[in-house]
This record gives sequence, structure tokens and C-alpha cells, in this order.
Amino acid sequence: MLNISLPDSTFKDLRDFIYDKSGIYISDSKKYLIENRLSRILLERNLNNFEDYLKFIKFSSNGNELGRLFDAVTTNETYFFRESDQLKIFTDEIMPKIASQKKGSQSIKIWSAACSTGEEPYTLSIMLLEKGLQPRQFEIYGSDLSEGVLNSAKTAVYNSYSVRNVPDHCLKKYFSNNNQSYTLSEAVKKTVKLMKINLINDRNIKLLRNVDAIFCRNVLIYFDVKSKQKVASHLYDCLNPGGYLFIGSSESLHNITRAFRPNVLNKVVAYQKV
Ligand SMILES: C[S@@+](CC[C@H](N)C(=O)[O-])C[C@H]1O[C@@H](n2cnc3c(N)ncnc32)[C@H](O)[C@@H]1O
Repeated sequence: MLNISLPDSTFKDLRDFIYDKSGIYISDSKKYLIENRLSRILLERNLNNFEDYLKFIKFSSNGNELGRLFDAVTTNETYFFRESDQLKIFTDEIMPKIASQKKGSQSIKIWSAACSTGEEPYTLSIMLLEKGLQPRQFEIYGSDLSEGVLNSAKTAVYNSYSVRNVPDHCLKKYFSNNNQSYTLSEAVKKTVKLMKINLINDRNIKLLRNVDAIFCRNVLIYFDVKSKQKVASHLYDCLNPGGYLFIGSSESLHNITRAFRPNVLNKVVAYQKV
């Protein structure tokens, strides 16, 4: 497929538009990637140049178009049991602490923010079920700004790459396998509520409150410092006092915020709202 050329000035306008809508910052060195990934969309839409695409996307009321744009500029890569040391610290050490502070039938509220195709919130659910928790004892929310990935999360049919780290007994118990596709059981699916939330958006972020633990992993990498600060402050507001935030193990809140206390447990950092 031939690429449509993206002039520098249109690249900058497109970059500003994406930044404004999502907090995602695209550096100059990624211009070729944008050109490459978006040319396909332009051809599908019968658009001859990026100027027309920019107009189209600015005035399109269709959220799917924006979703496709965001999908094209980020990587949605995720898989079950990703960075499982962190998940284990949460289920083995932090969950019991949170549970002990709950009164009566209060459930524990967990949010996988930027969950992509759902592997992260579903993994959390599987791990809690394996710990013997009943679904009524926890609420898991999975959110993303892209409708495309949320639709895949809803369908919950995965390929072998995605389930490669799932322990054998869990694979047998929670998935049905047909050739190379793995369908997640209803028992797990129904424990996760999927929502469209743009983490940079002041209104969207009010949709979830009083959360005990947030997993916001492998998404801060797309943001510049200003967007990271905004998202960190949004997540802070969503947490209960003493609640926990997990970011990707290669990410850091250093120079972003001092509002969280970093607790280091077996080399895993759990940021706590103080
Ligand atoms: C690499 S995936 C991370 C998935 C999962 N958290 C994990 O660690 O495996 C990054 C996701 O961030 C989402 N994303 C990017 N900007 C976002 C924003 N402003 N609000 C919500 N989600 C966003 C993308 O759509 C993508 O699905």
C-alpha cells in the first residue's frame, strides 16, 4: 500500500488535535508512523489528503472515527497475567488489607483504567475468583477511550498469544478453546463492567469514584508531563483515602506528582493515596 504524504504543518495540526482530545503526545520522530498508519484510513474513507482527513475528523460526530484515530496512534497490546508480580502483590498482600477495612457487605472496587481489549480486568477477576472470593465481594471496572478495543473486550474471544501466560488450570477452568481461539467464560465476563472513559477528560473522570485500587498500566508512556500530571491528579480524585494506584513497571510518577506514597513490596511499587 502506498502512503499518502503528510505535510509537516498538517502533521502538527493533527498532533495538536490528538493531544487536545486524548493527552497523547506524538513526537516529531513518530511522523512516519502516523503517515503510515493513517494512510489506510484515508484510503478507506476515499480521502485524498491529510488536510481533508483533519477536517473530516474534526467535524465527525461519530465517536468510532476518533476511536480509530486513537487506535492508530497507540498500541493496544495487552495480554492476560501481564506483569503478574504486581498483580500477585495486589491479590496476596493489598487486597486482604483493603478487605479488612470494609464494613458489612461492602465490596472492593477495582478499576483497570485503559484496559484495552480487557485482558487486565479479566485477569484480576480470575485471580480473585481463584483466591476464593465471591463475585459479590468485588466490583471490577475496565475502561478505555477507544470503542474498538472495548467492543473486543465485550466479545472476550482471545488468541493464543493473549492467553500464553494463563496458568493451565485457569485456562481449562475459565476459557473454552476452539482451534486457536479462547472464549472467556460468562462467569468471569459478568464480573467486569466495561466503560468508555477518556482519562484526560474532566467530565469522564467523574464517572468513577470511591475506588480502592486502580491499575493504570502502560498508558502513561503516551502522555507528556502535563498530561501525566492531569491523569495522576484525576486518578487521585477517584481513589478512596488510602487507596492504591499501580502503573506499568517501566513507568514512574517521579517528577509527576508527590501526592502518592510509594510502597515497595517485593520490588513492586504500589502508590498509595495519602
Ligand atoms: C498498551 S494498552 C495498555 C493495556 C493494559 N493496561 C496493559 O497494561 O496491558 C494502552 C491503552 O491506553 C488507551 N489510552 C490511550 N490514551 C487514553 C486516554 N486518554 N484515556 C483512556 N485510555 C487511553 C489506549 O486506547 C490503549 O488501549
